[in-house]
Amino acid sequence: MAVSADAVRAELEAVLEEVKAALAAADSPDAARAAAAVLLGKKGALAKVEPLLKEAPREERPKLGKALNDVRRSGEAALQSRIEALEAAARKASLAGPPHDFTLPGRGHRLGSLHPVRLVEQDILAALSSLGFEVADGPEVELEKYNFEMLGFPPDHPARDMQDSFFVAGEAAGEAAGEATGGVVLRTHTSPVQIREMLSHPPPVRISCPGVVYRRDDDVTHSPMFHQIEGLLVDEGVTLAHMKGVMTLFIRRVFGADARVRFRPSYFPFTEPSAEVDVGCTICGGTRVGCRVCKESGWLELGGCGMVHPVVFENVGYDPERWTGFAFGMGVDRFAMLRYGIADIRLLYENDVRLLRQL
Ligand code: FA5
Repeated sequence: MAVSADAVRAELEAVLEEVKAALAAADSPDAARAAAAVLLGKKGALAKVEPLLKEAPREERPKLGKALNDVRRSGEAALQSRIEALEAAARKASLAGPPHDFTLPGRGHRLGSLHPVRLVEQDILAALSSLGFEVADGPEVELEKYNFEMLGFPPDHPARDMQDSFFVAGEAAGEAAGEATGGVVLRTHTSPVQIREMLSHPPPVRISCPGVVYRRDDDVTHSPMFHQIEGLLVDEGVTLAHMKGVMTLFIRRVFGADARVRFRPSYFPFTEPSAEVDVGCTICGGTRVGCRVCKESGWLELGGCGMVHPVVFENVGYDPERWTGFAFGMGVDRFAMLRYGIADIRLLYENDVRLLRQL
């Protein structure tokens, strides 16, 4: 059915009037946008006029097409100016309210802080780096060969027991890693990095190795996942005195120049002689009174150390007659507990931001 050009023009004008009325009624920019979308949008009133154009006299159609576009443009311009007017009114109203005090301090954003374990790790590594130790890295999922065998742990050593270690998918994992030998464990200490480093580098060697290790432990001073820093120094003429000097230096770097440090004879299959190193308990100040962290001993064990066993040198192809060295493995979490007076290691891993905010 034919429609006259005037009838289409009337429809277009009606839409524009409707748009203006809806915008005038809108009381917020969002309401104005929504109203305009209903009328000017794809399925809106204007879109419904479009099919009428095809029914208007052919010679009028180009003019009507232009008129339709003009209505859309005018509608959009009206929307824009209504939004601006509403925003200006809102600004005016807010300024007319209670006076703003522009001198008030702003609302600050709280900055994050490093985790206590990271802070202590950085200090230890900085002290070691100042003595020429370079950082080396190794995998957390380790071959049993490097974690135990080449460090002199015999097959029946208790550390290999299911009570102590997390084993990974048996022999197959080792073979998949390209090794024909034995099984795979989540490394129980950072000492396998010593083996990897010595197998791939000729002496002299001077490395530190920070990293995560895993054991089946869980109490106030033992976490199933914890951090160690390994140190290894191999050269000609290295003695136990060098080891004590280096270790005392970085322990005092973390705990202060007057921290008490002691070495106790101990045993590790890959060092001879071996020692444990303790620091005076900072939780009870060494007073021992009811302190569950130092178990009333006044001391807390930080790590193990010793002179590298000649068998380890033979395992990696170093001449034990020519080279000597020392190694140590420190529990970084213990350092953090003592430095910050944290009585339960589990607090380090509970993700409570109140702990970090105190640092
Ligand atoms: C070792 O792991 C040896 N690899 C250290 C070593 C390296 C000795 C080089 C000689 C030469 P040990 O099992 O004692 O040793 O662990 C070292 C330190 O890790 C402990 O003194 C303690 O500070 C920390 N540690 C051990 N188990 C845990 C645990 N479950 N949670 C937190 N810290 C732990």
